[in-house]
Amino acid sequence: MQQKDVFYRTWPLRFWNWLDKRYALQEFLHALVDVPIPRSANTLYLGGITLFLFGIQAITGILLSIYYQPTPENAYGSILFIMNDVRFGWLIRSIHAWGANLMIIFCILHLLRVFVQGAYKPPRELTWMAGVLLLMLTLGFGFTGYLLPWDQRAFWATTVGSEIAGAIPLVGQAALNFLRGGPEITALTLSRFFGTHVLVLPVGLALLVAIHLVMVHQQGLADPTEPTGSPDDLLQEGAEGSRVGGSDDH
Ligand code: HEM
Repeated sequence: MQQKDVFYRTWPLRFWNWLDKRYALQEFLHALVDVPIPRSANTLYLGGITLFLFGIQAITGILLSIYYQPTPENAYGSILFIMNDVRFGWLIRSIHAWGANLMIIFCILHLLRVFVQGAYKPPRELTWMAGVLLLMLTLGFGFTGYLLPWDQRAFWATTVGSEIAGAIPLVGQAALNFLRGGPEITALTLSRFFGTHVLVLPVGLALLVAIHLVMVHQQGLADPTEPTGSPDDLLQEGAEGSRVGGSDDH
């Protein structure tokens, strides 16, 4: 029995060493988590919470897509089926709906934190711009998802939303037709909103989050006590020392 315990306690370690010798995993993990974090940095975990909520949305969204049917004839009925007949369907749908609101709220709080602490300043301009795109994609999730229940509220919200796009000078009509898949809201609108909601936006957001995090990783978090300083100084520091804008006191 004791021998068995020792075996179970050590074989994962031995397997890890076996893998590590072949693929330098320690080094890889070290490089992954070794991010310069100034003592004064305080992210309030807002970016991480936004990422966590995206994970929740992905899981609950996949579960909902098992029963949801993106056609005008069946969409509303499939939502009723999820709410009333599928086991825990009401819970999964409610988490998805609340999660959508929370993700937008936390994304905006994260933006405000970055703004207030001046973490958008050089050399982090591109991290900020990737963030702005992330916020657009997050709002896009909300806009496309709202139509999917295909009830009166969904239909009229999308009517108003697409009319706002239609009011853009010069390109308005083209934008409205692009959003609706024609001049009216039809089955085509529902299928393109569904495709955008479950494929285009998730893939786009996942790729962009990866780029956003690689940028954060490479530069380290900003030091809120020294947010100004000339961009050249910061870039110089990056070339000389560890990574851009990172301080050693972590
Ligand atoms: C889906 C949306 C987003 C996710 C998942 C996300 C995720 C993250 C995470 C995990 C971090 C590192 C920790 C932290 O600062 O909390 C970060 C940093 C950062 N994010 Fe975002 N972010 C998102 C949207 C945005 C938006 C909307 C902006 C601004 C327009 C933005 C700008 C930045 C900047 C400039 C940093 C570096 C902060 C620093 O160095 O202190 N992000 N993001």
